[in-house]
Amino acid sequence: MARFFAENWEDYELIDAGNNQKLERWGNVVTIRPERNAYFTPVLSLKEWKKEADFIFNEVSHTKGDWKVLNANAPTEWKISYKNLIFNLKLTKFKHVGLFPEQVFNWDFISSKLSTSSRFLNLFGYTGGASLMARKSGAEVYHCDSVRQINAWAKTNMEDSSLDHIRWVLDDALKFAQRELKRGNKYDGIIMDPPAFGIGAKKERWKIEDKFPELLETTTGLLVNNGFLIANTYSPRLDAKKIKAYTSSVVKGKTIEIGTLSRKTTTGKILEYGELTRIY
Ligand SMILES: C[S@@+](CC[C@H](N)C(=O)[O-])C[C@H]1O[C@@H](n2cnc3c(N)ncnc32)[C@H](O)[C@@H]1O
Repeated sequence: MARFFAENWEDYELIDAGNNQKLERWGNVVTIRPERNAYFTPVLSLKEWKKEADFIFNEVSHTKGDWKVLNANAPTEWKISYKNLIFNLKLTKFKHVGLFPEQVFNWDFISSKLSTSSRFLNLFGYTGGASLMARKSGAEVYHCDSVRQINAWAKTNMEDSSLDHIRWVLDDALKFAQRELKRGNKYDGIIMDPPAFGIGAKKERWKIEDKFPELLETTTGLLVNNGFLIANTYSPRLDAKKIKAYTSSVVKGKTIEIGTLSRKTTTGKILEYGELTRIY
């Protein structure tokens, strides 16, 4: 199975990983967070990790926990950048800090494919990394997320990056895509990054392995002839073999790449994030 490697950059470094945790540097702030894909042994000891880290996230349940301060001088809200895009980060109660740094692999692909005459759709957009990169390339951008505060966070990132005119859509991603299909709207590029299980704007619960075929059929239907689609998935019940079967049944005459989005730690380990599918 192919591997796609996301690289570290000046403002982000995956230092080490293991024992279901990862040690990351975000600008000048270093965190220890849970990571279920880090089932292997880390290179450095937890004592060495704690010497470097400013904060450690203690998981109380699968979805919640709290941050323990290891360095009282470290900021709990800060900014980092990637190619002049500004991301506001903060310690949230969900172990997330406001960015999925592995997505940098997709941002570079997006900017290489879009221009001022393009239309781009970011489904499950979160804090907008892909939307900002698409807007920076001059494209008309639609950013869809089902959480109002998340769209507001992405808007702040847009403004701090001196960008404007992103269309914010507060809705269930599949519902919005299906409506766009009915309207006959088309896009030059689409990215979707659904969580393994999600909740729509009207609290409808769903699991990616159930929704993926419909999401795929709808989003491929929204593409212009030479349009591209990127899909990130994180469910062991939706493996590459299944994704291949779904995509080959829906997509004709296009390149289909399926692989594991991964990153090398500075200490030399490989952390896998999930499946990445690119159609173009
Ligand atoms: C894994 S994050 C996406 C990360 C994003 N691609 C990035 O690079 O920053 C998943 C996002 O999907 C949103 N979400 C969950 N269920 C949704 C739904 N049914 N419709 C739209 N957004 C949803 C969540 O609010 C969250 O922001």
